[in-house]
Amino acid sequence: MKFSGKPGGRCINLAHSLQAPATMRYKGPVSNHYLCALRDLIWEQARPVEKFGHQPRLAALTEILGAGLDYDRDVVLAAAWLHDLGVFIGNRPENPAALSHWDHVAYACAHAPEILRNVDYPANKIPAVLEAIRQHQPGDEPATIEAVILRDADILEQLGAVGMLRTVSKVGRDTRFRSFTDAVAVLRRNLQDLPAQLRLDASRHLAEPRIRILEAFLAAVEDEAGPNLF
Ligand SMILES: [Fe+2]
Repeated sequence: MKFSGKPGGRCINLAHSLQAPATMRYKGPVSNHYLCALRDLIWEQARPVEKFGHQPRLAALTEILGAGLDYDRDVVLAAAWLHDLGVFIGNRPENPAALSHWDHVAYACAHAPEILRNVDYPANKIPAVLEAIRQHQPGDEPATIEAVILRDADILEQLGAVGMLRTVSKVGRDTRFRSFTDAVAVLRRNLQDLPAQLRLDASRHLAEPRIRILEAFLAAVEDEAGPNLF
């Protein structure tokens, strides 16, 4: 896979870079020059296309979680845009056996340095970006404040209404999600395991309504479908 960074940080107009309906064009705020290029690259890479939204939502969450904390925003935002490179179709294997052993974090860490160099990202911050990506999953022990912020934001994205959308959208498209039952099992596991993994008070506060809506959704699924969900 050859990634096309945008040297010089020129903000590519997405309207010219792909044939997407206006409602699908991302228009969120992008400040630093490299963020523009990373956004464009992820817009091209994120497949299925709805996976794109995880990155800007995650970036926005890190801004909220990081408010008042002493952390490197460059590191967190770059890691937020690049951490899931390895989960996109085209970058990960489709074969179920290969997918079950796929290390998407290793993939992201292998490609992120070249991508960041190509977008004129500060070279001295690349190791910290990789460290944050390496420690972003719930089972990880984040060793830096940047990794804590990214990991908490990523956990929040697996709860609430967005967590439901992200999970259910995989049914029939991801070989690990054959039916609603698989999606509901993942959501139940998320609800049971993830809230306790959050490290920041701000994250726990943001998680409260997400937990409530996920609980209500799972209870409604049980009420409506019982043993016939499939
Ligand atoms: Fe993620």
